[in-house]
Amino acid sequence: MAGRIVLFGATGYTGDLTARALVDRGARPVLAARNEERVRALADELGALQWAVADVERPDSVRALVERGDVLVSTVGPFNRWGEPAVQAAIASGAHYLDSTGEGAFIRQVFERHGPGAQAAGCGLVTAFGYDWVPGNLAGALALRDAGEAATRVEIGYFNPGSGPDAMSGGTRATSAGALLRPGYAWRDGHIADERPARRVRSFELRPGRQAKALSQPTSEHFALPRVHPALRDVEVFLGWFGPASDPIRVLSAGLQPILSLPGTRSALQDLVARFVTGSSGGPDAAARAKSRSVVIAETFDAAGTRLTQVRLEGGNAYDFTAGILAWGAQTAAAGGLQGTGALGPADGFGLDALERGCAEAGIARV
Ligand SMILES: NC(=O)c1ccc[n+]([C@@H]2O[C@H](COP(=O)([O-])OP(=O)(O)OC[C@H]3O[C@@H](n4cnc5c(N)ncnc54)[C@H](OP(=O)(O)O)[C@@H]3O)[C@@H](O)[C@H]2O)c1
Repeated sequence: MAGRIVLFGATGYTGDLTARALVDRGARPVLAARNEERVRALADELGALQWAVADVERPDSVRALVERGDVLVSTVGPFNRWGEPAVQAAIASGAHYLDSTGEGAFIRQVFERHGPGAQAAGCGLVTAFGYDWVPGNLAGALALRDAGEAATRVEIGYFNPGSGPDAMSGGTRATSAGALLRPGYAWRDGHIADERPARRVRSFELRPGRQAKALSQPTSEHFALPRVHPALRDVEVFLGWFGPASDPIRVLSAGLQPILSLPGTRSALQDLVARFVTGSSGGPDAAARAKSRSVVIAETFDAAGTRLTQVRLEGGNAYDFTAGILAWGAQTAAAGGLQGTGALGPADGFGLDALERGCAEAGIARV
């Protein structure tokens, strides 16, 4: 029998979209959030769904949400601040787990710290299963499969043409604001190495004759792609949100490092950002989301630096994709579609062909 799908954070911007995407796919998730009145109202609106109250500041309430065989989907973020109790609850119960984080430090924690515990508990953890960073995992894995054994490096760029200033949710703003203050990493020379976010800038050809700059990021591709392509020595993932500001941000990131290395400074600055940039303030409405597009490009190279293959994915809005892919992933996991236990990447977790179908259903596909 398929396990239950429990959506934690259902009253947030992304949680609400995900609840609706699940119902549109015919699922009947249990909705969980910290505010009883709001979660009950949403559950009633979506067709008398079950609901539960849980608060990350009371970890037992999160633990009580799931049992073995269930799938816990968490959209409670920023994850560096609020994410731990849901992962721990899933492992303690033997439930599968998916989340909407895009935060590098949290992703690293799931792979390095929680993966072994989940393996022992017989459940799968699929972190960063939203727009950040599923399409790059798909594009990278397809480009590597096309290239074969000769590929030793993959470079991936994410772009959102058509996105205006109203394109971000409050939760994304709260998360992005502290990103340069966190330590980063990259898959370098066959292992995970510490590397500050925004250390590198490169341009991708967004359309013929139009180059667009993007900044390097610590993402799930660094952990996940070497699992599907063991010959891989280097992974580079770039985010193209910042356009011409990419170079100044790179310089800022470099300039921050001596300050961040002073004892206590990093956490003091993170606390300051958390006080002033809060989430739970909504996000782009359907009309604003309809204006933005997604383009994700992956290129592979051999050891001599010769480009071997390129894969390009295109589709709609990042939040609609996030809701759609979380809904697809939760249903697939609940039906026994996860291929392994422990911390899993999108491609090794679901299988590349299934993932490609899931992404297309969520609105992003190979062109
Ligand atoms: N990977 C991606 O591409 C992607 C896409 C979208 C979002 N995200 C990430 O997903 C997260 C949510 O984004 P969002 O836009 O939905 O933000 P949001 O609207 O601020 O949602 C945050 C959610 O966390 C809940 N929450 C906060 N503190 C809590 C606590 N103590 N106990 C229980 N729940 C608590 C909020 O509850 P209330 O409703 O009661 O305020 C809300 O449901 C962020 O980290 C964002 O960066 C990533």
